[in-house]
Amino acid sequence: MKKMLVFNHKMSLLYDEVYNYITRTNNLDTDCNIIICPSNIYLELFTNNSEWSIGAQNMYYNIDENHTGEISSLQLKALGVEYVIVGHNERIVDFNESGRIINLKLIEALDANIFPILCFGEDADEDYREKLPQLLDSYLKDILNIDFITFAYEPIYAIGTGVHPSTDKIKEIISFVSNYLEVKYHKKPNLIYGGSVTSSNIYDIINIDGINGVIVGKISSDIREVEKIINNI
Ligand code: 13P
Repeated sequence: MKKMLVFNHKMSLLYDEVYNYITRTNNLDTDCNIIICPSNIYLELFTNNSEWSIGAQNMYYNIDENHTGEISSLQLKALGVEYVIVGHNERIVDFNESGRIINLKLIEALDANIFPILCFGEDADEDYREKLPQLLDSYLKDILNIDFITFAYEPIYAIGTGVHPSTDKIKEIISFVSNYLEVKYHKKPNLIYGGSVTSSNIYDIINIDGINGVIVGKISSDIREVEKIINNI
């Protein structure tokens, strides 16, 4: 299976920087499966011009047209968007997204045939053995099939901080989550890691047993860093 590289640009890139980014990423030579998640305002530029798969950073959980400022699964699908990030901690903190909302977004994405990239993680002072099963249970309520979900383990304290767990710790937690989901769903989940991934640590992280890829934040909008990430894998 190809390793997944998810680039979550967050609010990065100005309009006149986008074409250069698309052209340079189109020229990347890699065996990885790249999924670029730009700001919503550039989704169409990317789906029309990028050679790579495109994901949205967020989506509303129903298709009723009366939700000012939101984007529906139908609109994403019509643009050719294939993936959507769900449950990112920045949305939980900034917009109070609850487990129920995340669950509804997951259900909506699956119904619309958009692959969800489901983020989940614990903070530094929380016990992952307690927190992660509870979180995953609430996110996955009424979901019977996890085949199309990518599980992105993002420890909260590692997001945008330059601090990340040791590779041994990541391996331990990934193995715990993998076993937990496997017992419940009788399937091996597709698990990736996110949180302070850079070109300097990508090799060690992406080669951890049980990890099928990474999700990289803001620095993934820096094309020189992306080229280094690819070279260092
Ligand atoms: P950083 O790579 O900046 O730590 O962000 C990770 C992230 O939020 C990916 O979704």
